[in-house]
Amino acid sequence: MSESGDRIHLYLCRPHWVTDADHLARCHDLLDDEEKTRHARFRFERDARLFLISHALVRTALSDFTSAEVPPVAWVFRSNAYGRPEVVPENGIHDLRFSLSHTHGLAVCAITSSADIGVDTEAESRKLDTAILAPRIMSPAELARFQSTSSAMQRKQFLSLWTLKEAFTKARGLGLNLPVEKLNFFVNGSSIHFGCPAEVEDKPRDWEFHLMQAQPEHHVALVTRKSGGTPASVTPRWFVPLAGDRNAEPPLQMIARA
Ligand SMILES: CC(C)(COP(=O)(O)OP(=O)(O)OC[C@H]1O[C@@H](n2cnc3c(N)ncnc32)[C@H](O)[C@@H]1OP(=O)(O)O)[C@@H](O)C(=O)NCCC(=O)NCCS
Repeated sequence: MSESGDRIHLYLCRPHWVTDADHLARCHDLLDDEEKTRHARFRFERDARLFLISHALVRTALSDFTSAEVPPVAWVFRSNAYGRPEVVPENGIHDLRFSLSHTHGLAVCAITSSADIGVDTEAESRKLDTAILAPRIMSPAELARFQSTSSAMQRKQFLSLWTLKEAFTKARGLGLNLPVEKLNFFVNGSSIHFGCPAEVEDKPRDWEFHLMQAQPEHHVALVTRKSGGTPASVTPRWFVPLAGDRNAEPPLQMIARA
């Protein structure tokens, strides 16, 4: 392995960058049978392409992260008991961790070599009824802050909490079994405060959070378990499956961290 434990690479791809039929076909060739079956089930081309690019991104990013010790087509995945996809150890590569999130306009894959990790992205334009959803996903303190926020800022605040909670859920790998309304986040300027009851997580201080924005409209939250108390170094990279880095893109904006 070429990376140390607290090094995180965040690979980001815009689905509209991959439209060429040959490029898409080569991405499709990377998928395993299960991925191909899932891909074939999408009714709308836009959704199928987002799935295809996201899964080609995971495979090519894993190969990039490990300095091409394993080719993209060779990665094998399994799911934990709650559905979290994980890498099956390959060619002596152990403890490789990744998390994937995709939404219209953006696919993000976070990779590190040992720590639990979760990533989530949402587009600001996504249709979400925040008034109905807020009481379901927020703690009483979060809800009180949300309801006292101006309506102009409520959507941003909601998406910050939503993506942080989704990313934390993914990092824990517990899926719907984690009661997100018991997580308590407070994004205050550029800092993030996190707490929760011990029944959910008995070491809230062990976790590190990053809230970012991919302009113009994508919120990105990254959550990782600290390794040895050292803050993680996060390297965001615009990346195209089978084409590599796309360096001229605007950098991700760091909104808050803890
Ligand atoms: C499964 C879940 C994590 C998917 O999240 P999503 O926002 O709908 O979709 P995303 O694109 O961000 O993530 C999808 C990817 O997460 C990964 N994933 C699926 N189940 C997972 C799990 N249990 N743990 C971690 N990652 C998981 C997969 O890579 C999946 O990609 P794929 O479907 O293309 O294979 C999410 O629906 C979930 O279980 N949430 C529970 C927490 C909750 O109640 N959230 C409400 C809002 S806070």
